Amino acid sequence: EPASLPPPMKFNGTKLVNDAQHPWKPLKPGDIRGPCPGLNTLASHGYLPRNGIASPSQIIGAVQEGYNMDPSFATFVTYLGHISNGNQVTDLLSIGGKSHGTGPDPSSPAPVSGLSTHSTFEGDASLTRGDAFFGDNHSFNGTLFNEFVDFSNKFGGGKYNLTVAGELRYHRIQQSIASNPNFSFVAPRYNTAYTESVFLINFFVDGRHYDGQLDLEVARGFFQDMRMPHDFHRAPKPIGGDGFELVEAARPIQPGRNVRGVNSYTPDPTSPKLTEFCKVYENFVNKTVLTFYPKPTGALRKALKINLGRLYDALNKVNGPGCTQLFPYGK
Ligand code: HEM
Ligand code: MG
Repeated sequence: EPASLPPPMKFNGTKLVNDAQHPWKPLKPGDIRGPCPGLNTLASHGYLPRNGIASPSQIIGAVQEGYNMDPSFATFVTYLGHISNGNQVTDLLSIGGKSHGTGPDPSSPAPVSGLSTHSTFEGDASLTRGDAFFGDNHSFNGTLFNEFVDFSNKFGGGKYNLTVAGELRYHRIQQSIASNPNFSFVAPRYNTAYTESVFLINFFVDGRHYDGQLDLEVARGFFQDMRMPHDFHRAPKPIGGDGFELVEAARPIQPGRNVRGVNSYTPDPTSPKLTEFCKVYENFVNKTVLTFYPKPTGALRKALKINLGRLYDALNKVNGPGCTQLFPYGK
């Protein structure tokens, strides 16, 4: 049975998080890391198990403790990842590739293959990771990081901020359109791409001088070394994807994909748009979840019901009430 969710934090202001109890340590053989610099860093500081295998409950607790991520927002994102890529019965998720560490796979089509799995949660046009088509969708990519630096210099006066986010997000999409014949940019990737563009601003800027301007060496530390800067303090208040609409509004693009090789980007009007969270949820349940788990039974079915319930409850808190709950496996 899935572990219960962590209780709300007693103190939710800024505080030192690169502290004596959470020293950065280099990877040991077998430790797993993946496409998310936020989770990689939490594992390398021991907020998550250092081997990179964690339960949703541990992840939801760690992103609050380490970065002050809003608890409902954290629950929504975590269950999107866990239901897509984790083991529902053992309640374990790899933050990178497939691992025996998550236990025996259920006998379902679900790959249970970790957050690096392409086209579930992980997707194209990432800022510092290449598209899966080019062979590596999860490792830090120095060429892409150099572009990140160039854009921050050109549009942000040497810092990454909302202006840079708008330009760089658009640039990465245009690059993928022109070079990746399989480029796909529909929900949920469409929605997470804009959200992740602001995570850097919301979570990697020190809570004591929270001015929306991310230093490039600090950024490199998180992205490449999975390391918080010395004396790092988390955000001053619980926060989620605030600002993501501004990134899209800077240079709007419809959800879509390349349909006949490179430079054939075609909008997909059936994909949810940026703030259509109810549709993102419906799409996720009706496509991803039912494809991975067409006829679950026993402990698997029970766990899926619990986890889908938590996803929906979190959605309602983030988005406000109004989405219709779906019960693919009964009430
Ligand atoms: C990217 C998962 C929390 C920062 C990603 C990706 C995944 C992921 C699967 C890859 C998407 C892609 O670029 O193709 C999660 C899950 C979380 C979480 C399940 C649970 C709460 C966080 C937090 C932060 C963060 C707390 C910041 C402190 C980022 C950033 C990217 C990213 C900046 C984009 C990387 C890039 O484009 O190069 N995350 N994440 N994430 N995540 Fe997370
Ligand atoms: Mg990606």
